[in-house]
Amino acid sequence: MKTACIATVVLTLAVTLAAAEADKRSSDINLPTPRMEGGKPLMAALKDRQSTRAYSDKPLPLQTLSDLLWAAFGINRADSGKRTAPSTMDWQEIDIYVVLPDATYVYDAKANTLRAIVKGDLRKQTGKQEFAATAPLNLVFVADLSKMKGIAAADQAMYLGADTGFISQNVYLFCASEGLVTVVRGMFDGPALAKALNLPEQRKIVLTQTVGYPAAAAR
Ligand SMILES: Cc1cc2nc3c(=O)[nH]c(=O)nc-3n(C[C@H](O)[C@H](O)[C@H](O)COP(=O)(O)O)c2cc1C
Repeated sequence: MKTACIATVVLTLAVTLAAAEADKRSSDINLPTPRMEGGKPLMAALKDRQSTRAYSDKPLPLQTLSDLLWAAFGINRADSGKRTAPSTMDWQEIDIYVVLPDATYVYDAKANTLRAIVKGDLRKQTGKQEFAATAPLNLVFVADLSKMKGIAAADQAMYLGADTGFISQNVYLFCASEGLVTVVRGMFDGPALAKALNLPEQRKIVLTQTVGYPAAAAR
């Protein structure tokens, strides 16, 4: 009888904890198929590429988000699964965490889906500059160190920095092409952000990047 009571209490506790954990997570979002055509010619986008630090709070349409993430690090060769940005040894070790006002997601390029990670607004935690908290989108580039096989630890930072840089520049060019504004950011509290994102030890935040529409004064 006593054992049955303890089992019931343990089971109830487990169900309550699981429900609390599920409550912290949002649902996944299936992205619309990215549009791979249009936009400004490359030379015009390069001419307009710049960093901007004043944002409107207007949200990005889901189609624009899908196009942006595909441009950043989507799959552009379905047969090999290779991407719009190069990566050392094709490790594809950089994940893009997508910090939106309602929740944070990871971009799953293969499924063209945002995988829900944490419920709630983490925009403020992505940076020390005020605009990060109100801009509609912050990207967090996270390296999965377990995918970086066969290199000396001393070289790791160079490779993950380079691989992130290509993705970030794709975001810059997409924004210049689409009338959006952006800035890549190294100024953030790494340990606090890693904790907010529940990152395991093998995952390292490299850079963050804010994206949105220009504030009226910045137009
Ligand atoms: C690795 C890296 C980190 C950066 N970190 C920040 C940052 O934390 N905050 C910021 O406002 N700009 C940041 N920037 C943007 C630079 O300040 C900006 O690129 C530079 O001033 C040149 O301006 P431009 O991008 O408009 O050409 C960073 C740029 C790079 C490449």
